[in-house]
Amino acid sequence: MTATAAPASPTLAKGLEGVIAGETAICNVGQGQLIYRGYEIHDLAAHATFEEVAFLLLEGHKPSSSELARFTQEIVAERALPSGVIDFIRTTGPMLKSGTAVPMDIVRTCVSILGNLDKESQEITHEANLRKAKRILAKVPTIIGHMQNVIDGREIVEPKTGGDPKLSHAANLMYLMSGSKPTPAYAKVVDVSLILYAEHDYNASTFTTRVIAGTLSDMHGAMAGGIAALKGPLHGGANEAAMEMLKEIMHDVGEKGIGTDAVDNWMQNAFDTKRKLMGFGHRVYKNGDHRAPILHKMGRAIAEQDTKNPGGHAALKWFELGEHVQRIMLAKKNIHPNVDFPCGLTYFTMGIPVPQYTPIFVASRVTGWAAHIMEQHANNRLIRPIAQYNGPDLMSWTGK
Ligand code: ACO
Repeated sequence: MTATAAPASPTLAKGLEGVIAGETAICNVGQGQLIYRGYEIHDLAAHATFEEVAFLLLEGHKPSSSELARFTQEIVAERALPSGVIDFIRTTGPMLKSGTAVPMDIVRTCVSILGNLDKESQEITHEANLRKAKRILAKVPTIIGHMQNVIDGREIVEPKTGGDPKLSHAANLMYLMSGSKPTPAYAKVVDVSLILYAEHDYNASTFTTRVIAGTLSDMHGAMAGGIAALKGPLHGGANEAAMEMLKEIMHDVGEKGIGTDAVDNWMQNAFDTKRKLMGFGHRVYKNGDHRAPILHKMGRAIAEQDTKNPGGHAALKWFELGEHVQRIMLAKKNIHPNVDFPCGLTYFTMGIPVPQYTPIFVASRVTGWAAHIMEQHANNRLIRPIAQYNGPDLMSWTGK
């Protein structure tokens, strides 16, 4: 096509459904498959660590053991936040308390400040982008952890180092949030959740980052846009919204109601009022999101264990409620849960505060975003679709 030729007959695709908006070598999403650079998600969840998957996405191939050691060291060395970002986080208590900001907004602002302080912020070469991606990947868990410390009114955990260098990305995130090191079982479940969340081709937030990168704008700005897009409850915000919905059902039907008509009635009312059930449905997966059963199984195992522990979270009842809701949704609407549904249940079981579920999604998805930003910059064309006008007919401003 020449620069001046217009497409023959453009058609309207609301929500860009079914539109192939570009190419990627990073991820292949289809019915029954999710592949990161040639590796299937079940394989990765069972055999890889999040650090290995992050390397795969950012550097483009499976790491050797020496490459992984080098990468891990690079990330650990970048975990601490600049004092300007810590100072900002210390001021966020009142805004979080009043609700003018939620944790996703704080993460977004912190990533923007990191950009303002990054000596390579305006560089968009592949090498500079890769270095910046690693710095952002390293620092997002520290942002989340420090913010949670402020919310809980505890001293900021490890502000000088951004954590314990011996801990993995997942374990360190949990340590920074609470000041306590997680059990290996908990760290493993969070690690797998990060693997599942890392990448998903042209989803709304990644597409946002590509649109921003496509103007030759910078990585921190594109990431800030990605965070804003991920926040919404139709996208990543669904992991928080799903848990809030389950809490609402539990409250409305009472504990004795699990598995009884009370839940059916609650659901029927939701259907009658055309309420969207959070954590269900997907634009691409129509026969189920196969990330969901991986996390459901792991989360349920943790819940079963915890329910047996004196002082545990008695979390199994939440999984039982969730499973009942899933059965009704499938029977009545033929709609399956997406990954955010078991994620909400799993993080809840582990005692992670609900408003941090989507920020934790960010701690993983920055890898996918960065890979797409670099891919966009490497072979760029401005992303600029057209709209079908449905406004008023032509009028004269002077009325003549
Ligand atoms: N609850 C109730 N009904 C639903 C749901 C749901 N969660 N999802 C889809 N439907 C229904 C719609 O009402 C619609 O029915 P209709 O044809 O009778 O009007 C039909 O299924 C098709 O749904 P759309 O909304 O058109 O599907 P779309 O592809 O536009 O939306 C989306 C996908 C946004 C994920 C939708 O399923 C939804 O809102 N789900 C709840 C939010 C959610 O869980 N988002 C997380 C997605 S995964 C992720 O981002 C990591």
